[in-house]
Order: sequence, then C-alpha cells, then structure tokens
Amino acid sequence: MNSTFDFRTRFGNRYFPNPIFTASGCAGSGKELSNFFDLKELGALVTKSIAVRPRSGRATPRMAETPSGMLNSIGLQGPGIDQFLEVDIPWLVSKGARIVVSISGETIEEYASLARRLRGIEGLSGVEVNISCPNVENRGQVFACDPLASRAVVESVRRNMAGDYPMIVKLSPDVTDIVGIAREVVSAGADGLALINTVLGMVIDIDGKRPKLAGITGGLSGPAIRPIAVRAIYQVHGALPNVPILGMGGVSSGRDALELIYAGASGVSIGTATFGNPNAAMTVKNELENLLKEHGFRDLESAIGAAHG
Ligand SMILES: Cc1cc2nc3c(=O)[nH]c(=O)nc-3n(C[C@H](O)[C@H](O)[C@H](O)COP(=O)(O)O)c2cc1C
Repeated sequence: MNSTFDFRTRFGNRYFPNPIFTASGCAGSGKELSNFFDLKELGALVTKSIAVRPRSGRATPRMAETPSGMLNSIGLQGPGIDQFLEVDIPWLVSKGARIVVSISGETIEEYASLARRLRGIEGLSGVEVNISCPNVENRGQVFACDPLASRAVVESVRRNMAGDYPMIVKLSPDVTDIVGIAREVVSAGADGLALINTVLGMVIDIDGKRPKLAGITGGLSGPAIRPIAVRAIYQVHGALPNVPILGMGGVSSGRDALELIYAGASGVSIGTATFGNPNAAMTVKNELENLLKEHGFRDLESAIGAAHG
C-alpha cells in the first residue's frame, strides 16, 4: 500500500514540514547539532534566548543532576543580538534551517527593542518570546508569573515586530493558573504558545550543607517534568483549542512526543534529551511518524488533542 502521510504542522500563518523542533537553550545556534544531522530535517531550530546585550550567565556551579532530570541556572548566557544577527542567523540561513528566534528581556522596552531588531531579517520562520525572565522594573518578579506583565510584553512585541511569521509565547509552569496567563497572552496578540519552560527547583549538597547551585535555585528539566508539561498542555488546549501549542518537557522518544500531541500540542521541542544523545530530535521524529502511522493516522493534525475525546 502506498499511503502518503502528512506530517506538516502549522503555527499562525506558517506550515512546518514536521512537528519536531529543538528547545531553546539546548541546541545553541545549531552549530554542534549540524555535525550530527542536517538541520533542514527539523521542523525548526529554536535558538537560545537572545538578549539585547552580550551576557556571561550566572556564577558556577550552574548544573546539578537529579534522579530524573537536571537542574540548571545558566541564566541568559549569550552573544547579544548584534553578534547573533551578524554571525548566527546568516550561518543558519546558509544551512537552509527554518529558524525560530527566541528573545528575552529584563524590561518591556528590551523586548520591544529586540522585536525591532528582527525587522527585515530574512529567513526567519517565527519568534518565540521567553517571558520566564525577571522583570527588573518590578522587583525581579518573573514576567510569566504575572498576567498583566505577560500581556505588556506580548503587546509591545506585537507592536514592534514586522515579520509575517508567528509569535509564539513561552509560558512558565510555576503559576497557579496557567490557563489564565495563556488567555491573557493570546488576547494580547500571541499566535501560539510554548509550554513549558523549566520548573523552579533546588538541590542541597548534604555534605557541604549548602545549595548545590551558586544561583541557589534552578530550572528543572528532563523526564521528571513531563507529567507537568502534559497537564499544562492538556489544560490550555482544553480552554483554547484553536491556539497551536509547541510542547516541551522531558521528551526523548516518539511515545513521549505522542503523549504531548494527544494532550494538545501541534509541535514538540526536544531539550535536555539532546545533551545525552545529539540525535535525539531525529530519533523522536522517526519514532513519532511510525507510531502515528501504526495508530492509523494519515496526518499529524488528526492526532492533536486526541486525548480530549
Ligand atoms: C541548559 C538549559 C538551557 C535553557 N535555556 C533556555 C533559554 O535560553 N530560553 C528558554 O526559553 N528556555 C530555555 N530552557 C528551557 C527549555 O527550552 C525547555 O523549555 C525545558 O528544558 C523543558 O524541556 P526538556 O525537558 O526537553 O529540556 C533551557 C533548558 C536547559 C536545560
């Protein structure tokens, strides 16, 4: 039987050939990954969150192992938007990768300024707005934890961006009402949502009687957080079924990815799994396509949100 399978997915006005993306911060700007596979094979590469100015990140140690995940407090280490646009973007374009640029700021104006800097840049397929950052104008309270601050960021990016590509806003699971935040950012102009960022955690070194990370707390990622991601995606898809969700959190196999898709994700980003296996995204992609076919689907779209009955 020669059945064609439609693996495409859509965010806003853009179609992507398959739903497997990288997760921001877990594939840099793609250079290392390109030694392992052709970046064109990804639905899209999501870059490490980029800030207005170069940043060296937090003090070390900034990684700790946990039983089924890792804790990191890298902070927003990176080259800053100027070097990123001069070096990283042209390189990714030359490789034919679809590029989703992740942006992060410490003030509303920084987000606005990043959105303006992306104007006229050729070859972008989307922007992911990382709002899990401390707002220096409000006692360091994370934007993503406050509905009004989340709205203000999204409105300012929407006003200042000019590309005809989708704006995907990445939410934090560290809130009591993620659906409330999701509604706020969608009504402010987001075309899609990315769920979830890392979960705030902490590890104590019992010999030294001190927190293991210099930053004291860090973001938990990997298999430990997958049920949290599934829950958040399920809740948000249930409330906003027409808003595409890029799901992430502990995915390392096709089965894991399918769980997020059944919960309501239109795409799946691979993060921590890439550190142990640089080919993880390709493994997940192949396994997912086979599983969907085995389950009798002729396209990805019919599987999205299937767990909602
Ligand atoms: C080392 C590391 C760095 C990260 N950096 C970013 C970042 O710059 N921006 C962002 O939005 N998320 C960042 N994340 C969060 C991931 O993109 C992802 O949301 C989270 O890790 C859950 O997926 P996973 O369990 O597959 O890693 C980072 C995660 C890790 C582990």
